[in-house]
This record gives sequence, structure tokens and C-alpha cells, in this order.
Amino acid sequence: MTHFHYKENQLFCEETPVREIAEEFGTPLYIYSRQQLIENFRSIDGAFAGVDHTTCYALKANSNPELLKLLVKEGAGADAVSAGEIHHALKAGFHPSKITFAGVGKQDSEIEYALKHDIFSFNVESAEELAVINDIAGRAGTKARIALRINPDIDAATHPYISTGLKTNKFGIDIEVAIETFKYAASLPNLQVDGIHTHIGSQILKLDPFVQTARKVVDLVGKLRAIGIGIRHIDFGGGYGVTYKNAIKHPLLPLEHETGSEATPGNEAFISSVLPILRQADCKIVIEPGRAIVGNTGILITKVLYRKDNGVKKFVIVDAGMNDLMRPSLYQAHHQVAPLVLNEKGTEHVDIVGPVCETGDFFARERTMPFMERGDYAAIFTAGAYGFSLSSHYNARPKAAEVLVNGEKVRVIREREKLEDLK
Ligand SMILES: Cc1ncc(COP(=O)(O)O)c(C=O)c1O
Repeated sequence: MTHFHYKENQLFCEETPVREIAEEFGTPLYIYSRQQLIENFRSIDGAFAGVDHTTCYALKANSNPELLKLLVKEGAGADAVSAGEIHHALKAGFHPSKITFAGVGKQDSEIEYALKHDIFSFNVESAEELAVINDIAGRAGTKARIALRINPDIDAATHPYISTGLKTNKFGIDIEVAIETFKYAASLPNLQVDGIHTHIGSQILKLDPFVQTARKVVDLVGKLRAIGIGIRHIDFGGGYGVTYKNAIKHPLLPLEHETGSEATPGNEAFISSVLPILRQADCKIVIEPGRAIVGNTGILITKVLYRKDNGVKKFVIVDAGMNDLMRPSLYQAHHQVAPLVLNEKGTEHVDIVGPVCETGDFFARERTMPFMERGDYAAIFTAGAYGFSLSSHYNARPKAAEVLVNGEKVRVIREREKLEDLK
């Protein structure tokens, strides 16, 4: 049960009818539940009770400053992948000692920026990057704390575009050469080797890939300590999957067909499956969840503009497009779509498409949906992660507004862009 729910036939976010929010603030509109965000964070962070750890929220999932500030208050750290994300994190109030910096292509200026702010750790992805960070730290008269990102060659059984822990992926250092690379890192004078980092992918729904990875990482910590390389922290990355199908249920909503492999074990289960293994290493533990914290915190509201029936297919054309929520176009990702107000007009088989001039601009294809017509509003569920953060101005479309709901209160946390804002 999330904080988006139907009261009788009307969708609510916490205590507020979503239709009223849509009418007041217009569409397309991202709506976030404050309570959901906090509960998600606590369900992950709380699973570490008594263990030295930091839950570094992955900003790439959603870097709205107001959501970040709520996470700061909860004690979160930040996982950044660019100087821009480090900047957002610092501005929101994350302490530099809780900021990690990952990414296969860190620019020199980004490394300088991160060094200047003395962040917790550079998660380094290649031997060449080690040399570059060492040089830049030397010039700056400082030492860089680093963790090496290991590619454990584990199949996370997720979409190939968000799988990152296989040999064929560009991420991390091959586990086969990890020890050699750690020795090299330890030989560089301006680096302080502190940790091992790994992140095997996103939207992972099975526990086993995490368990296998944890075993490999702990084994590596032991081997490194045996040759005198002290590892003080394990950064285990993120990747915990969330529910996209049947995110919300109601007798008037068609049940979405599940293949059986789409159920998420849940945040506590992800952590408890690996915690006993990771604890054997006697290290501080860092994790970097993004989607599991913000995914079901947000929905995207859109309004039906037109209907169209070409004899072969029926289309419902809405005012949100792939520029607002790219996941369906990018990875054929499934998002549940449901009207804000349910009626007894029955269901039909339709494509729900946006206004962008691409055939790939769709939210649902060949889907059984409650009948919707011009002026009706619909919610696209589980849109809080990789929604707004992946949005663009494609087709010169101003970006959507974002609002935060707290009980009966609604607050704009990002103004809708106007035509004049387009550069
Ligand atoms: C290094 C790293 N950490 C954390 C994350 C967050 O992943 P998720 O949102 O699936 O938890 C990502 C996302 O791809 C990532 O690349």
C-alpha cells in the first residue's frame, strides 16, 4: 500500500484528491508524496540498525532540491555522477563526508571540484582514471580517498541498458585484475585507498545476483588485507527493483498481466539478503539506492487531448510526452496508467501516446484501459525515479512542474517552465 490510493473512485495522494491538484497546477505535472519518500528511505536505512553505514541516495534518479532536503534531514548521503550532482548535493545540505562520486568518464574539472570539496570517496572505474586523479590531487597538494569499482561479472537479470555488472558493460574494473589494480592504486602517492565499490545494475528483482556479488566483494576484501591493502568501506551500490505492474489496484481497473518474475522482494529483503555476508568484512557499508527511494514516491499526471481510431488501432493522445517521461521509449519500460476518476464506462484496448513527433512516444501500447476521453486526467504511476531527471526539451516543449504533497497541503517544488524559459 502506497500513499497513492483510491477513495471510492477518486485517486488521492495522501489526503489530497489528485484531480484538484491537476486542476490547480495544470498538466503535465509530477506529484510526489512526502510521506512515501520518507517511508521508503527509512525502510532501507532502518534495515542497517546497529551497523556502521551510509545510505547514499543516487541523485540521478531524481534531484529535485526539495526532495533532496528531506533526505538530508533523514540523515542520507549522496551518490553523485557529475560535478553538477555534487553541486546539487552540497546545495541541498548533504555533508561532503557523505558524498560519493562515480562515473566512467570524470572530467579533470569535475575531479578538481570534488577534491576541493573533500568528498567521501571517488569511485574509480579504470587504471587510467587512477593515474589522472593522482596527478590532479598532487597538483592540488592533497590526497584523494578512493574506492575501486569492481565489475563482478554477474548477470543482474534486468534490462540490458541498465545492467552494469557484466564483463561486456563499460563499468568498473574486471574482478580478475582487481588485485593488480588495487596494488597500482596503493603505489600512487596522492591516493588513499579506502574502499571497494560495485553496482551491478538497476531495477533488479532477484536477490541472488546481490548475494553472489556480496560474496565476491567480501572475498576480495580478505585477499587485499592479506597483502597489506586495508579496505575500510564497501560501497555496494544500488539497484533494488520496484513495482511497476499493478502499482495500484481497484475493482474498476483491469489487472495487469504479470509474468511471475516481476514481484519485488522489497527493500528490507534486499538489505537483509546481503547484510550478514557484508558484515563478515568488518567494513563500513555504503549503499546507493535511487529508484527504491523515489520510484513509487511520484506520479506523472497528464490530460487527454484527443481520441483517434484509424480502423486498426485506437489511440488516446495525452498532453505528456516522451520528453516528460522517457522510460517507455528508452527501455520499453512498463508504467501503469489509470484515470484519476474511475467510472463505469467500461474498458477498451488502446495505445496511450504523447504529442511528440516520434512513433516511440508512447506510455502504453495495446493496453486494456478504462475508457477515457478529452478532458479526462490520468496518472502514470511509479514515475518518481528517472522521470523528471531524464526529461528534456525535445520538440521545444517546456518542462513539467513538480509539486510535493504533505497530507492535505500541496507545494510547488519546481515551477512549470514557460515558453520564455526555452533557450
Ligand atoms: C553507480 C550507481 N549507483 C547507484 C545507482 C542507482 O541505481 P538504482 O536507482 O537502481 O538504485 C546507479 C544507477 O544506475 C549507479 O549507476
